[in-house]
Amino acid sequence: MKRMYSLIAVIALVSITAMLLLTPSNASSQAKSAAVKGFVIPDSINKIAQKSCIACHAEGGKAMALAHVNLSKWDTYTADKQISKAADMCKQVTKGAMPPKGFKASHPDAVLTEKQVKTFCTWANSLK
Ligand code: HEC
Repeated sequence: MKRMYSLIAVIALVSITAMLLLTPSNASSQAKSAAVKGFVIPDSINKIAQKSCIACHAEGGKAMALAHVNLSKWDTYTADKQISKAADMCKQVTKGAMPPKGFKASHPDAVLTEKQVKTFCTWANSLK
């Protein structure tokens, strides 16, 4: 009987140790697979995009613009695609090509400041 108790104790100890060992590694592998799926657009970029980009680059926007970047579908892009789109977005705002001239004329507050361009590119470069 005594042997039986110690056997149970050993089994219990082994299971608890296994649980302790497995839980954290499971949690971190889940975090990793989430990161592989893609990047979440941070608030700092979202704020700029809301004002300057989504009129054309989100659901209900312009087909030509959506073909390049659809921010409503950002989550469905692979991480690689997000990296290259973000780099392209940085390029376009740096050149001053986006938002387009006409939009800037009718929405002067949508023109990106130098600081906002920097914010965009710092984010884009951080994904690489
Ligand atoms: C008034 C509508 C409009 C707004 C606002 C706008 N875009 Fe665009 N964007 C377009 C259109 C239209 C195209 C497609 C141009 C083409 O095919 O020549 C485009 C293309 C692009 C492309 C792809 C360019 C290429 O040739 O690879 C990027 C990147 C882009 N926009 C980023 C942005 C970003 C970032 C913002 C906000 C800062 C923005 N756009 C705001 C209309 C807009």
